[in-house]
Amino acid sequence: MHVKIALIKIVQYIKSVYNTILLYLSVISTLMTPGTVIWKLFGNRKGKVCLLNRDLICDSKTLMNLPKCGKPLDGYTNALYPFLPTFLLDNNQYWIDRRDVFSYGNNLINKRIFDISFDFELKSKQGNILWDIFEIISKYSFQLVFNRLPTDEEFNDIYSGLIDINKIIKRISSTPNIPIRKIFYDRILKLIKDNNENFLFHNCENFFKMDEIHQVSSVAEDFLTTMAVQCTDLVCHMLILYSEYPEDFENNFENSFNETLRLYPLTDIWVRESSNNEKGWIASLVQLNRNGWSQPNTFNPQRWDSTNHPPLMSWGFDVRRCPAQKLATNISRLIFENIIHKNQFWIQPAANFQHERTFPYGCQVSLGYGDKPHDVKLWKFNNKLKMQFQRWLFEKLRMIDQNELN
Ligand code: HEM
Ligand SMILES: *[C@@H]1O[C@H](CO)[C@@H](O)[C@H](O)[C@H]1NC(C)=O
Ligand SMILES: *[C@@H]1O[C@H](CO)[C@@H](O)[C@H](O)[C@H]1NC(C)=O
Repeated sequence: MHVKIALIKIVQYIKSVYNTILLYLSVISTLMTPGTVIWKLFGNRKGKVCLLNRDLICDSKTLMNLPKCGKPLDGYTNALYPFLPTFLLDNNQYWIDRRDVFSYGNNLINKRIFDISFDFELKSKQGNILWDIFEIISKYSFQLVFNRLPTDEEFNDIYSGLIDINKIIKRISSTPNIPIRKIFYDRILKLIKDNNENFLFHNCENFFKMDEIHQVSSVAEDFLTTMAVQCTDLVCHMLILYSEYPEDFENNFENSFNETLRLYPLTDIWVRESSNNEKGWIASLVQLNRNGWSQPNTFNPQRWDSTNHPPLMSWGFDVRRCPAQKLATNISRLIFENIIHKNQFWIQPAANFQHERTFPYGCQVSLGYGDKPHDVKLWKFNNKLKMQFQRWLFEKLRMIDQNELN
């Protein structure tokens, strides 16, 4: 009997060594993100795959049946320094206070979204439009929080910080620019201290009870950065898909929106440390969103007409799920529709552009208004491989920084 148990354990161990090596080698040797690699390797597998230190959770049903746990999803990251975003806080009193304050701001912003007059036009261009959209949404986010346009000086201080954070998130650089972050921090602190009557938290006592770092992080990170970074990516994904499926977006926006987020979730992987006898785990959002779906890799918005399918995992799944789903949906939709409904807008991805979950070389398109030129499909952008490689390198550095795969 003992021999049998020992044998089973040995086989288990060998399997977990094999799976871990397989996963590591694949992640290191391809340009894909770990989440995409996991989907390629383990596809429609059900349940858990044993790794040395963690379990890989392969499908949403298994994930949602795990014991409830309020731990933060992500490990420590230097990408956000000096800010402490809510999603990095353990579920202690700080987290509770921040969630409470967040929900206050969330409600108020939801009222402001459609009240703020807001006009912009994306310039005709051939190249990376990700930063153009990022700038537009950054400005709009400022307006949502402060209920007015930023001065040039204010915007420069804030926008440089936002770019610096997003560059690390996008793996365009690997270390924060501390002086720029400091200017961002100080500018937000000054705006909080001004406490103008239109400031989001003007009447929120609990906000002002928090420590300074939490006040600044709440405004700078939970709201400004997250709105700018997340909504920009989502709008870019929708624009790329819109170029191929305009009717779907015009005829049924909700379906197309969910289908965009199913194929291109904005988070790559979730990692969670072990806690009270539970093994730590890792899950790929790409896999969770495709495992168990028919024709999982195809953009097919009609599938959302039926409810007979696994759930959309892109907003999270437990107490730590995104508290801003409605806000993020409305902002992204508003920006997206503003762009595509301007006088005869057209958009065409570069001939060598591949739509991936991240934008390793930016969102490379031609866009314009009026008649679409015939030769527009031929245009290619330069330095694709170099940009891919850079992203790959910084992603590995970040994986080490965050202990993502250990
Ligand atoms: C645009 C699409 C968005 C998606 C798909 C999304 C998705 C998610 C997901 C999956 C999580 C769980 C944590 C993680 O994966 O790291 C999360 C957490 C969070 N999101 Fe979002 N998010 C979006 C936009 C936003 C926006 C615009 C805001 C702020 C206004 C926001 C605020 C937050 C906060 C504060 C948390 C942390 C919650 C906690 O840990 O208690 N999200 N989001
Ligand atoms: C889109 O996904 C959300 C979140 O899972 C869900 O609540 C909503 O019903 C879905 N929309 C459609 C049209 O199925
Ligand atoms: C904002 O989003 C929510 C949920 O996605 C939706 O019910 C509501 O109608 C939206 N508001 C507007 C004005 O479109």
